[in-house]
Amino acid sequence: MSDIIQQYRIEKEPYYRPVSDEVELYEAAYSVRMPMMLKGPTGCGKTRFVEHMAWKLGKPLITVACNEDMTASDLVGRFLLDAQGTRWQDGPLALGARFGAIVYLDEVVEARQDTTVVIHPLTDNRRVLPLEKKGELVHAHPDFQLVISYNPGYQSLMKDLKQSTKQRFGGLDFNYPDHAIETEIVAHETGVNAEVAGKLVSIAERARNLKGHGLDEGISTRMLIYAGSLIATGVDPVKACRVALVRPITDDPDMRDALDAAVTTFF
Ligand SMILES: Nc1ncnc2c1ncn2[C@@H]1O[C@H](COP(=O)(O)OP(=O)(O)OP(=O)(O)O)[C@@H](O)[C@H]1O
Ligand SMILES: [Mg+2]
Repeated sequence: MSDIIQQYRIEKEPYYRPVSDEVELYEAAYSVRMPMMLKGPTGCGKTRFVEHMAWKLGKPLITVACNEDMTASDLVGRFLLDAQGTRWQDGPLALGARFGAIVYLDEVVEARQDTTVVIHPLTDNRRVLPLEKKGELVHAHPDFQLVISYNPGYQSLMKDLKQSTKQRFGGLDFNYPDHAIETEIVAHETGVNAEVAGKLVSIAERARNLKGHGLDEGISTRMLIYAGSLIATGVDPVKACRVALVRPITDDPDMRDALDAAVTTFF
């Protein structure tokens, strides 16, 4: 049974370039098993950070992408019918609690509140998970930790975490790194040189200034890595930027022109 958990182990170090003191703070939080909340815009390094931390702490990592159709059973587990009859299958939360994984609920606000509340007993000092249908109370393994992420920008009144959920977590803010660090990341991830990576970052910085002035979200580090990867294969930088940076984020013709102009300023 416990070899199920083996597949969630991270063997190779995931590259993560610290931006501030987030690695130390996370280690301290893990040492007291504080549930953590990672906040920040899309594509700024939250998932990579958790992967890196799980590797560093030597713990398996179970990631769940949350969506509004998700039910409590999707997290906790359910009975399945097979040739032998009915069989219980642990959901990701039960699996992680049983075997001591870090369970990462990505975009947790997407889940309905009646789903989210199942994490409550695991995130206070009880550290238990009731499997009601099975009649079992799982006492969390000492290594178990819960991590959630969300993008505060997408938050609406309808979609926000309840205070009773939020207040169970410690929070770390993530954002796009400063110019030099982001350049280093883009160069490392794509193989383009520092000069090209720096230009990509400068284009993104221009676009980020347009957030709220016609753009819902700035160009993320993830998008810069797409652009850099195309350039590294030999695609003309202007075309690569159009495909990877400009077209995906806006359909507005004026905004496209403005961003295309920013691209040609640098390339
Ligand atoms: N500090 C960093 N160190 C190393 N790589 C980084 C860093 N920040 C961002 N990246 C790169 O950016 C990419 C996107 O980051 P990631 O997938 O972690 O974003 P995210 O914040 O989880 O986004 P989403 O909210 O959309 O899930 C990563 O695959 C990685 O290549
Ligand atoms: Mg992510």
